[in-house]
Amino acid sequence: MIYDKADEMEIEEAPLSRPVDAVFQEEDRQENILRPKYLGDFQGQQSIKDNLSVFIKAARDRGDALDHTFIVGPPGLGKTTLASIIANEMHSEIRMTSAPALDKPKDLAGILTNVAENSVFFIDEIHRLKPALEEMLYIAMEDFEIDWVIGQGPAARTMRVPLPHFTLIGATTKAGSVSSPLASRFGINIHIDFYSPEELATIIARSARILETKITPDAVMALARCSRGTPRIANRLLRRLRDFASVLGDGTVTEAIVTEGLGRLGIDENGLEKMDRNILRTIIDFYDGGPVGADTLSISVGEAVESLEDYYEPYLIQQGYLKRTQRGRCVTGKAYELLGIRNGRKADADQGLLF
Ligand SMILES: Nc1ncnc2c1ncn2[C@@H]1O[C@H](COP(=O)(O)OP(=O)(O)OP(=O)(O)O)[C@@H](O)[C@H]1O
Ligand SMILES: [Mg+2]
Repeated sequence: MIYDKADEMEIEEAPLSRPVDAVFQEEDRQENILRPKYLGDFQGQQSIKDNLSVFIKAARDRGDALDHTFIVGPPGLGKTTLASIIANEMHSEIRMTSAPALDKPKDLAGILTNVAENSVFFIDEIHRLKPALEEMLYIAMEDFEIDWVIGQGPAARTMRVPLPHFTLIGATTKAGSVSSPLASRFGINIHIDFYSPEELATIIARSARILETKITPDAVMALARCSRGTPRIANRLLRRLRDFASVLGDGTVTEAIVTEGLGRLGIDENGLEKMDRNILRTIIDFYDGGPVGADTLSISVGEAVESLEDYYEPYLIQQGYLKRTQRGRCVTGKAYELLGIRNGRKADADQGLLF
């Protein structure tokens, strides 16, 4: 596997360092031993695996590169993992980079002209690709050629450079920010959604085996329910609970260790932590439950808009605590319930029933 700057960039750009943050953190480097290498090890997401295995088999039987593949989903759900699994299953090389690491057309042209026949070229955060590079990619994806300008001024001429056949895998957490001409050039579209607790339980059990950590079935389920539907978080919390188990217990992660450990890490039984509650409470207290725009909310809670939109909101929305409407974010009745506030709080407050 050939890594470009993407690997370093992930760390530089991780804005936060909390146990339930789905964004890649330095300690997640240990993820590599837990990262599945083949489709058979990739837990959950059955329909994605079923479809992919058909497309991979068909491409391999034809001796072709797999169609260009677009992978969308919140952080830590397995986009990069799937890209390297696709390359492994295709028995092909993978070259990985991230859109912000590609600055000039020559950066992209340099890679495209050097990829191996039928190999995989992975661009992470593809929504951040610069327009000039995106245009180069259109022709590269469609015709396996690029236009290259030689010389300057009136003497300049354009040369078509043929490229090896390759599979572009583009990944993003923000499908809405990818232009439609680019999105429409991918033949295979994969949308990874949050994992169910049962799916996460199989991931936790597998990771515990690899880490040679004993964990009881009850503890596996308790941890699965607190992991925000995200394998990266499940694996990270498992490593922390392993520490608590060895210091506070006899080395086995039990349900009591999960409760104690997560309590100490400030995570509740639904995987929510202080900032999640803070976001919901702020919308209720300051904006009467919403709607409130992302920018305003971001200032009120002291969190960057990016992390609000990418890391907090998707899970709060998926769990039914928050709604995104045209006019802004609104909390739901479930959020009032979670915080122990009666719905229609304003009316209560007016009557002096609250605080
Ligand atoms: N389906 C799965 N089965 C088992 N482990 C998984 C699965 N999906 C993800 N993981 C684990 O979660 C970790 C994080 O996954 P990955 O790095 O692929 O997420 P990502 O979607 O690329 O995140 P980001 O948006 O931050 O780039 C992997 O290292 C792997 O250990
Ligand atoms: Mg990734």
